[in-house]
Amino acid sequence: MQELIEKIRRREARCGIIGLGYVGLPLALEFARAGFRTTGIDVDRTKVDAINGGRSYIVDVDDGEIAEQVHAGRFAATNDFAAIRELDTINICVPTPLRKTKDPDLTYVVSAVNEIRRYLKRGQLVILESTTYPGTTEEVVQPALEAAGLEVGTDFALAFSPERIDPGNPNFNTRNIPKVVGGVTPTCTEVAKTLYEQCVERVVPVSSTRIAEMVKLLENTFRSVNIGLVNEIALMSNALGLDVWEVIEAAKTKPFGFMAFYPGPGLGGHCIPIDPFYLSWKAKMNGFEPRFIELAGHINEGMPRFVVEKITDALNVHAKSVRGSRIHVLGVAYKPGVNDMRESPALNVMRLLKDKGAILSYSDPYIPAIREDGFALDSLPLQNGWLGNVDCVVILTNHAEFDYGAVAESARLVVDTRNALAGARGDNIVRL
Ligand SMILES: NC(=O)c1ccc[n+]([C@@H]2O[C@H](COP(=O)([O-])OP(=O)(O)OC[C@H]3O[C@@H](n4cnc5c(N)ncnc54)[C@H](O)[C@@H]3O)[C@@H](O)[C@H]2O)c1
Repeated sequence: MQELIEKIRRREARCGIIGLGYVGLPLALEFARAGFRTTGIDVDRTKVDAINGGRSYIVDVDDGEIAEQVHAGRFAATNDFAAIRELDTINICVPTPLRKTKDPDLTYVVSAVNEIRRYLKRGQLVILESTTYPGTTEEVVQPALEAAGLEVGTDFALAFSPERIDPGNPNFNTRNIPKVVGGVTPTCTEVAKTLYEQCVERVVPVSSTRIAEMVKLLENTFRSVNIGLVNEIALMSNALGLDVWEVIEAAKTKPFGFMAFYPGPGLGGHCIPIDPFYLSWKAKMNGFEPRFIELAGHINEGMPRFVVEKITDALNVHAKSVRGSRIHVLGVAYKPGVNDMRESPALNVMRLLKDKGAILSYSDPYIPAIREDGFALDSLPLQNGWLGNVDCVVILTNHAEFDYGAVAESARLVVDTRNALAGARGDNIVRL
């Protein structure tokens, strides 16, 4: 393993990333920028072609950043797993979704690991980055790789390092977010730590893969539970006739012991609605019944229904029913500034409204069309005063690109679930 450490330090190691999505592509570019010859492997041919053609499909990554590394001969993509033979390090960044029953679905991880096993050789480092329950690296990945006849810690290194990227965040990226890493053996940790030190500002080694796996789940459970709490405070404030947004703004002036979280139409994205259930599944398998995770999930999943109630009540004041009303949604991505609709609560709200007979349309500068869940809608451009033609405008994602002053002025009725119209007053505005 010492040889691999030296090779990494000289930046002569060949790096590979399996899964070139929101996590894998920025990581591959960081390795390439650090001077490593980097190969990206993905089963999606369109992503492979885009990368080799110098085109990006992720908002945080410019075409130019990819083209620069591809033209310099430091970065190439392929869908041929035989490329693993030539690699020294392999990071696995494939999806870890939930099944309908909320059980972990490790299909993608298992399939990537099976491909690695076919080509695994002495002196390689394998790192799992996909979010998963404590124990996955040693209970699922290690035995599958050792079936190739090699031993972890001596023949090859294996570690877990959770990805913490926050797509759309202008301040934090793969490079400046500290990287937690835990290996199966101290040598494994050392090799993985050496790799990340070449391109990440701070590496935080921990004592085991299980600790590293649990760190990520604590972070995401913390967010899910706090969002659940503030959503419940929003429901309570509604019952008490209080403006929850004013309460939060004032509470966050406390310089210690409080961290502001904001209510909304529900949780979205590939992480917060999903990851805590990986932990609760594992806890239940070990005879522990987690309560916070389940309760927060319950409250967060109920938010779309609450939003629809708000819309129904607001239309009622205007002597209208949801059935037959023209309702225009602003923002369907799961959060501002991203072109990602995975688990977006907007779809849940829209489905409920559609079931009630609403005539729906939407605008989102990041999502040109919705072709899922029975929807076939195209994003409409917002022309001057056009919003005045619909019965209700619902703000579900507060993209910076919308002109909120114009929305407040021109819409007959706005239901604002994100406090995007903060400061605006008027009988036509209803807040969460
Ligand atoms: N997106 C985020 O903000 C974020 C943040 C932190 C952690 N994570 C975690 O990182 C992991 C990856 O998430 P993502 O958002 O990048 O997913 P993604 O869907 O954007 O990308 C995953 C990529 O893996 C590819 N893939 C699937 N199976 C494959 C296989 N067997 N071999 C090769 N490629 C395969 C897919 O084609 C896709 O391009 C997940 O575990 C997620 O929970 C995501």
